[in-house]
Amino acid sequence: MKHLLNITDYSKEDLQELIDKALYIISSPFAYSHSCEGRKLATLFFEPSTRTRLSFEAAMLELGGRVISVTGPGGSSVTKGETLADTARTVSCYADVIAVRHPLAGSARAMANSSAIPIINAGDGGHYHPTQTLADILTIYREKGSLGGLRIGICGDLLYGRTVHSLIDAMSRYEGNSFVLISPKELTVPAYYTEKLQEAGIPFVQTNSLDEALPEIDMLYMTRIQRERFDDPAEYDRLAGSYILDAARMKAASKDCIVLHPLPRVDEISTDFDSDPRAVYFTQAFNGKIMREALILKLLAGKDHPDNTDISPEGEKLFTDDSLACTNSKCVCTHERGLRKEFYTDKHGVVRCAYCDQPVRE
Ligand code: NCD
Repeated sequence: MKHLLNITDYSKEDLQELIDKALYIISSPFAYSHSCEGRKLATLFFEPSTRTRLSFEAAMLELGGRVISVTGPGGSSVTKGETLADTARTVSCYADVIAVRHPLAGSARAMANSSAIPIINAGDGGHYHPTQTLADILTIYREKGSLGGLRIGICGDLLYGRTVHSLIDAMSRYEGNSFVLISPKELTVPAYYTEKLQEAGIPFVQTNSLDEALPEIDMLYMTRIQRERFDDPAEYDRLAGSYILDAARMKAASKDCIVLHPLPRVDEISTDFDSDPRAVYFTQAFNGKIMREALILKLLAGKDHPDNTDISPEGEKLFTDDSLACTNSKCVCTHERGLRKEFYTDKHGVVRCAYCDQPVRE
């Protein structure tokens, strides 16, 4: 595919190809050190980032390429009222690939619609974060030797956590996986994900008890409560600190139960657990750079990748219809001027916005 907007843009075979390439890079760190000479990556980060932006930039530098970047909400002409579409068209004149992070769901798709070069979604609001999932799956593969047959615990902010959404989409594809979704009831995964799991016949339970889940799982994916996505700060204050994993608590888990976290952490994992061999979150951050190298190589390898801006995350064909409107205030649709409004009909006949995947009304 030309762009990476959702993790489902890649088949299991594509993901394995990236993992294999990443493993090769780990064993031969200089094998591709000239592969991107003369090529440029543009990183456009309208939201804070340490790992994602720096690992993208380090990845491109390791490949012999160069980097140009915009950071912070005020760092580009978007602040002057320029659309993301015009920004993408402009940056296409200066770079060969764009990695974008933006607070609105569907922002990467909005850019892809008018970009001449590949767009990588580096996090679009509380929606998706496919390249974090690349880091996650390489970590799981290296630690567990397989991406299937796992009881996967995911804990924290499952409502707004974009890494969670992309991880569920990816891990749902592998045989024998089941999910234990651990969150306060206010922060359960959007119904969209539980419906998809049900539809695919993948076992899952939803609980608010981390302690009950710990003995049952093969891996735990901890997440931060996403303060910046809350409309009501009091609600965040009430839910902050819902889960704190520490060395004492982890005694209840199996000796092979690895703990991942996309980072940054606030207080959801105590530093007293960091020296435990099951704590793999900093290896995960390293793996993110390697997978981004593999991704950049893949996207820049050829010009014949099909344009995937006309299909939904599950492959449904998009359509336009002026009588429909997305009303999600966190979707790019309700902010970006001149955006072509696009929709798709999911497997249950529900019409959804192509940018944020929320149901729309006529
Ligand atoms: C995550 C993100 O930005 O969604 N961080 C990251 O990219 N590694 C998780 C988070 O911010 O909680």
